[in-house]
Amino acid sequence: MSIPAPLSDPLFHTIGKIADAKGLRAFVIGGYVRDYYLHRPCTDIDVVVTGSGIEVAQELGRQLHSNVSVFKNFGTAMLRVGGMEVEFVGARKESYRADSRKPIVENGTIEDDQKRRDFTINAMAWSLNASDFGALVDPFDGMSDLEQCIIRTPCDPDTTFSDDPLRMLRAIRFATQLGFDIFPETFDAITRNRERIRIVSKERIVTELNKIILSPRPSIGFELLDLTGLLELIFPELARLKGVERRGSHAHKDNFLHTLKVVDNIARKTDDLWLRWAALLHDIAKPATKAYDSKTGWTFHGHEVLGSKMIPGIFRNMKLPLNEKMKFVQKMVFLHLRPIILSEDKVTDSAVRRLLFEAGDDIDALMTLCEADITSGIDAKVQRYLKNFALVRQKMREIEEKDRIRNFQPPITGEIIMETYGLSPCREIGDIKAAIKDAILDGAIGNNYDEAYALMERLAAERGLKKQ
Ligand code: CTP
Repeated sequence: MSIPAPLSDPLFHTIGKIADAKGLRAFVIGGYVRDYYLHRPCTDIDVVVTGSGIEVAQELGRQLHSNVSVFKNFGTAMLRVGGMEVEFVGARKESYRADSRKPIVENGTIEDDQKRRDFTINAMAWSLNASDFGALVDPFDGMSDLEQCIIRTPCDPDTTFSDDPLRMLRAIRFATQLGFDIFPETFDAITRNRERIRIVSKERIVTELNKIILSPRPSIGFELLDLTGLLELIFPELARLKGVERRGSHAHKDNFLHTLKVVDNIARKTDDLWLRWAALLHDIAKPATKAYDSKTGWTFHGHEVLGSKMIPGIFRNMKLPLNEKMKFVQKMVFLHLRPIILSEDKVTDSAVRRLLFEAGDDIDALMTLCEADITSGIDAKVQRYLKNFALVRQKMREIEEKDRIRNFQPPITGEIIMETYGLSPCREIGDIKAAIKDAILDGAIGNNYDEAYALMERLAAERGLKKQ
C-alpha cells in the first residue's frame, strides 16, 4: 500500500501516535483528502477521532508548544501548524427522533461519522494509526465518484439534505467548482427539499453563491439553481430575468441566459468577485423597464439607472457588504452601456473624456465588463464591436496621456470662487464650478489652473460678480 504524499509530513505521525497511546482511532477526513486526489491546494485539515477530539488536539498542542482553540459546545478544537489549520472533532453518530428535529448525538465509529457527511467525495478518510497508517477508508466509494466526476450523498439524500439544507447549495457549488455532475437521485432530492433552504441563514447562502460566482464557469451553478427551483427561492430578482416574450416578429433575448453568458465571459477575464457580481447584475432591471413599441420592438430604457438603484436592496437582502464594494457594483451597472454607445457613435474626444471622468480608476473594469457583455451569435457583429472597443481604449490612452482626466479634480474649487468674490455658499458657485468642469471635459479649455481661472473670471463677470 502506498502512503499518500501529504502524510509524509511528521505532523500526521505525531497525531497517530497520540491517538495510539490513548487507544483511539484517528483519521484525516473530508476536503483535505478529496483535494489531494483532485490536485487542488488545501490548507484546512480535518481530523476525526473515535473519542475526544479535544483531548487529542490538546496533547498535540502540548507537544508542539502551539496554542489550541477549544470550542466546547461543538466538541471541536483547532490549532495552527505551519500555515495549516488543523481541526479536531470526535466521530459522531446522529439519530433523529420522529418527534424532534434535534439530533441525538452520540460517539460513533468512523463509518457512523462518514455516513452523516454530505457527499461521498467528502467522506473519504486516511487512517493515522500506526497499524494501518495511510490506509484509505472509503465505505461509500467516494473514489469511484471522484473518478467519474459525480456528486452523490453517502446515504438517503432526503435525510442528508433534511439534516442540513445548506448541503443542497454545497452540491451545486461543488458541481460548479469541480465541473462534476450531480447524481440523478441526489438532484431529485434537492428539487424535492428545496423549500427547506428557507431555514438556512443568508450569510451561509451567500458564501456558497460567492464560491459559485468565483468558479471557472459560474453558469453551471446558476443553471442548476434554476433547474432545482432553488434560484426562485434564494435570488428571485435573477429568476425574473428568465424567458422570452414575442409580439409579431419581435422577440427579445432571454436575459437570464444572456446574463449567464456575460458572467462566464467575465470569469475568463478576471478573478475579481465584485466585477463578476456586476456582470451578474448588469441587466437586473430589464424586467422592470421592459416596454413594447410596435415600430422598434422591445425596449429596456433606463435599465442601467434603475438597475444601479436596485443594488443596495439586493445587497442588503443577501447580507452582502454595504460598502465601497457595493458602490463599485452600482457604478459598473450604471455605466455599463456607455462604452457601447460610445463605440457605436463617432468616438469624440469629449465623450471619451466624460467617460474617463465618471469611471475614474474603474475604467479598465468597466471596459472588461462591456467586452464581456457582447454575446451576439453573429460573429461579424462581435468582431465589429470588439474593434470599436479597441479604438475606444486607444483613444482613452491618448486622452489620458494628454489631459490626465481619470482622477481629475477641477483646478478651481468652490473656496477659490468664494474667496475671490467674497461670497458665502450659494448656487452660483456650483454653477460656475460645473461650467468649468464641462469646459474642461468638452476640451473647450485645457485642464489647468490658468485657463480655468480665466473662465471663472468671464463667468463671474457675466453674472455681475465683483472681485473682493
Ligand atoms: N460537511 C458536511 N456538511 C456540511 C459541511 C461540511 O458534511 N454542511 C463535512 C464534509 O465532509 C466536508 C467537511 O465537513 O468535507 C469539511 O467541511 P468544509 O471545511 O466546510 O468543506 P470542505 O469540504 O473542506 O470544502 P470547502 O473548503 O471548499 O468548503
